[in-house]
Amino acid sequence: MAHTIVIFGASGDLTSRKLIPALYELHRKGRLPKETRIVGFSRTPLAHDDWRNRLAESTARFIGDRFDASAWQAFAPSIFYHAGDIGNQEDFVSLQQFLAEVEGESRAERIYYLSTAPRFYEPAVAQLGKAGMAEQSAGVRRIVIEKPFGVDLASARQLNTSVHQVFNEEQIYRIDHYLGKETVQNVLVLRFANAIFEPIWNRNYIDHVQITAAEEVTIGHRAGYYDTAGLLRDMFQNHLLQLLTLTAMEAPSRFEADAVRDEKVKILRAIRPMRPADVAANTIRGQYRKYRDEANVAPGSYTPTFGAVKLHVDNWRWQGVPFYLRSGKAMSCRTTQVVIQFREPPHIMFPEGAQNIQEGNRLVLQIQPAEGVQLHFLTKVPDAGMKFRMTDLDFRFGQKFATGIPDSYQRLLLDVMHGDASLFARADEVELAWGIIDPIQAVWDRPGPPELALYEEGGWGPPTSTEWMQRQNRQWFDTCPVL
Ligand code: BG6
Repeated sequence: MAHTIVIFGASGDLTSRKLIPALYELHRKGRLPKETRIVGFSRTPLAHDDWRNRLAESTARFIGDRFDASAWQAFAPSIFYHAGDIGNQEDFVSLQQFLAEVEGESRAERIYYLSTAPRFYEPAVAQLGKAGMAEQSAGVRRIVIEKPFGVDLASARQLNTSVHQVFNEEQIYRIDHYLGKETVQNVLVLRFANAIFEPIWNRNYIDHVQITAAEEVTIGHRAGYYDTAGLLRDMFQNHLLQLLTLTAMEAPSRFEADAVRDEKVKILRAIRPMRPADVAANTIRGQYRKYRDEANVAPGSYTPTFGAVKLHVDNWRWQGVPFYLRSGKAMSCRTTQVVIQFREPPHIMFPEGAQNIQEGNRLVLQIQPAEGVQLHFLTKVPDAGMKFRMTDLDFRFGQKFATGIPDSYQRLLLDVMHGDASLFARADEVELAWGIIDPIQAVWDRPGPPELALYEEGGWGPPTSTEWMQRQNRQWFDTCPVL
């Protein structure tokens, strides 16, 4: 089957940094369906060859050693460019003509990829509708929408309504690139392709869950976006809540889009909504000390660059088991991990004073960059009486598999081509996630508790975060993975 991928926002960063390198890699590995064409759409007038040359240069820069000039030469003729303005209806008429020319007799399936600034999502969808380009009589038509999908519940609903006026839900693929990560999918494999974890995956054995996405980078040149979006919209509404749903959900009966998404939605519905007083008690916010000196940050900006949120999932499996979500920029290292902290042993038989530690077991799912899984357990220190130490079984993808971990866009783009929406967010999922975030954002938009605590770069966020956990008799797992 022939495919045409039309990228709106072709001159943007995402296109050169992620989309084209992913498509090129799929081509190089022989996975891109035959007769796949890529058409870039952006305002700047550009000849096909100019765009191809720019992309050759950027792709080589982003993928380094894996760039192979001869593979690129074979790939480049499938790339085209068509200049146009999303605001101009005639440009869609001419785009439609151009696509018909490129596709010729073939009954191509089309993917419209919205990689523009979010304010163009609704106009682009409306123009596609007016030009009859969502019509499926000539072949399947799908639309991919990048994050952020709205900035709150109201805008996400509005965007869903506008998109649904033109496309059916089955045609819509809302991206959360975390779901394309191999290790995120492995959460499902670990839980549901193995029998040993499920019996203990509940309130009887688990004390709490920590989901951390820490980044070493600062905001850098991204403040124009970040200073108004903020941490909750950037990392929590999407990536962290997705990780929570995969960790907490029941086993779907099949690995199929709606079966998986129904289970995720049940978890989102079960998350206890926060009232303003809960937000003060159950969240921590921080800002790295030099944030306000970054370019394009508003003077006296209140935008958090660190946050921790304690959520409860009100169902039988998870009653009383808090889920701590935490993310921050300018942290000690880049690490995304899900820590399942098991309960402590109910009774220690060893003589008091002999044992130096009492600690529950931990299962650490290393999402990135040291992709793997570790199980932590106490072990007797040899030749040291009854002294114990936490040791671990350490599984690393990099050591067990010769193939490296591909960028998540490869999997996601292929899934869109195959019409598999399992790893994409459904309309209700996105709205429910905003419903969880909005009440927190409303409190965080104002000064007051929780205080915005300043923190030094290169640590684990503000001291208030550590103290907050200690008050709950718990401790963050503040460990940078060994690469
Ligand atoms: C993006 C956020 O969605 O995810 C960024 O906008 C963040 O702020 C990035 O840095 C993290 O993605 P990854 O794949 O590097 O963990």
